[in-house]
Amino acid sequence: MSMISRLGQYHRCASSLSPALGMVVARQKHTLPDLTYDYGALEPHISAEIMQLHHNKHHATYVNNLNVTEEKYKEALAKGDVTAQVSLQPALRFNGGGHINHSIFWTNLSPKGGGEPQGELAVAIKRDFGSFQAMKDKMSASTVAVQGSGWGWLGLEKETGKLRITACSNQDPLQGTTGLIPLLGIDVWEHAYYLQYKNVRPDYVNAIWNVINWENSIFLTGAWSDWSRPGRW
Ligand SMILES: [Fe+2]
Repeated sequence: MSMISRLGQYHRCASSLSPALGMVVARQKHTLPDLTYDYGALEPHISAEIMQLHHNKHHATYVNNLNVTEEKYKEALAKGDVTAQVSLQPALRFNGGGHINHSIFWTNLSPKGGGEPQGELAVAIKRDFGSFQAMKDKMSASTVAVQGSGWGWLGLEKETGKLRITACSNQDPLQGTTGLIPLLGIDVWEHAYYLQYKNVRPDYVNAIWNVINWENSIFLTGAWSDWSRPGRW
């Protein structure tokens, strides 16, 4: 199954139906996407314990809280309560970003990962950074330097078609806060590495390159628009 097909499993599902208007209205909930590999499959680079907690507890919490926040937001919209809408926006940003970021992150990893990309992404990396190693060094440094919790990103600038490296704080989603299309994200919240790497974030960032999924079809085909499609996650 192609990566794009697998990503297709992550769409929202209808959770309840309302006959109130004499018609069926689907209310959609976000769901925790399944991993395409076992929790222990990324060892020794990322431990099974980290993967299980990270996916089944941390990501699941973002999904649950996003659904709760969206319900409250819908109620606030229905009431025309702008104050309530504004007060809910930080939770929407945090939990919506957490869901989007982690959904992308799982597809960025593979037990068969590592090495260097091929195809369109390899060409773009060489064009924009000079070499794969230069890109890797720059992204590693930028990601390690995130203050507190956040993410390092390789993104695509839609207007120019150029690759960019940047970092986001907390769970700020790359596209929603910078406009860049997310390609590769590295989670540097402590929950992503502390159980195995303790406070040595550089060792975790160095190790994660061994499980980066360069076979991800979004890298091979440049089909980034699928990840920027509204309702995708
Ligand atoms: Fe995380």
